Amino acid sequence: MKQGNRKQAKISTPSGAEKAPEPQAPPPATEKKPEADAAGKAPKPQAPPPATEKKPDAEAAGKEPEKKAAAPAPKPFVDKDGNVERFPVLLRVQHILLFTSCLVLIFTGLPLKFPEWKLSVFFFDAIGGLEPSRFIHRLGAVVLIAVGLFHLYYIALTKSGRMNFLGFFPAFKDFKDVFHNVMYMLGFRDDAPRFDRFSYVEKFDYWAVYWGMVVMILSGLILWFEDLSLALFPKYFLDIAHEAHSDEALLATLAIIVWHFYNVHFNPDRFPMSWTWWHGKISEKEMKHHHPVEYERLAKAAGLEVEDETPEPIRAGDHGPPGE
Ligand code: HEM
Repeated sequence: MKQGNRKQAKISTPSGAEKAPEPQAPPPATEKKPEADAAGKAPKPQAPPPATEKKPDAEAAGKEPEKKAAAPAPKPFVDKDGNVERFPVLLRVQHILLFTSCLVLIFTGLPLKFPEWKLSVFFFDAIGGLEPSRFIHRLGAVVLIAVGLFHLYYIALTKSGRMNFLGFFPAFKDFKDVFHNVMYMLGFRDDAPRFDRFSYVEKFDYWAVYWGMVVMILSGLILWFEDLSLALFPKYFLDIAHEAHSDEALLATLAIIVWHFYNVHFNPDRFPMSWTWWHGKISEKEMKHHHPVEYERLAKAAGLEVEDETPEPIRAGDHGPPGE
């Protein structure tokens, strides 16, 4: 995504960490012990050490004392390597199971939809025919259903699940951001939209998968348990389920290739990919760049002041640590 100059978070301590510490005079070294001490008695209370007699050279020469470089303000949400945790382990495991099961379902489902394709014939030959493909499709379906059910538990009953789920809710700002981004892409605006934890692109990704899973699981179960479905519903119900399953499968595959793969792989900002799905982290620089509103919120919550700054461009290697 094209990025232009825009407000960017730069943080400093509210007290102003820029201030150099006052020069301190070391107490004079005691050469002679107090008399009472030497005589074995308790020493008399001593007057505080005399104020510095010798001024620092610069001050003595009438110059401003040299300021020491300010220590960077501590940021509790940034780890020692300069990365911020974006996804907890439970979310990463769900994502890994989701995309592996989806890939299995696409690779075993599409040859069923297009059996006359040369690629489908090649695939069936390679795995031993139609039956193994149908069997593996059902295995993939079991994993997808398990992930879907676990996700419902995760977003309802865990703190990080609820926090992330709420972040995915569409807001009026998302609609403004779409318009803003289109204007920016067309060159009518100089500044790109400033996103929170999830941009409208990521929200669209999430809800497309959510909706797609509901359709695919319900229609898939109707196809799987055909006899039961026929006993409960009229035949046209099964035909609708088959159409929905077959067409949504194609739509989902294209959405993954066009929308998801562009945004997380082929976008020059991310190419070849961000490893966040694996280690759950993004670099502080990338967070400022892609999620400045969330970055500023975390900084303010940590009691840090946020100033404007021109963003640095994102380059390969800015996506947190490389994949281990
Ligand atoms: C990403 C998710 C999925 C994709 C992309 C997908 C794709 C497909 C495709 C393309 C077909 C062939 C449709 C046709 O013949 O026109 C199919 C068939 C089928 N799918 Fe799925 N599917 C997915 C999820 C599921 C799920 C979750 C279930 C079960 C709950 C399921 C159960 C079935 C069944 C039973 C068939 C019929 C296979 C047969 O002929 O035996 N699918 N799927």
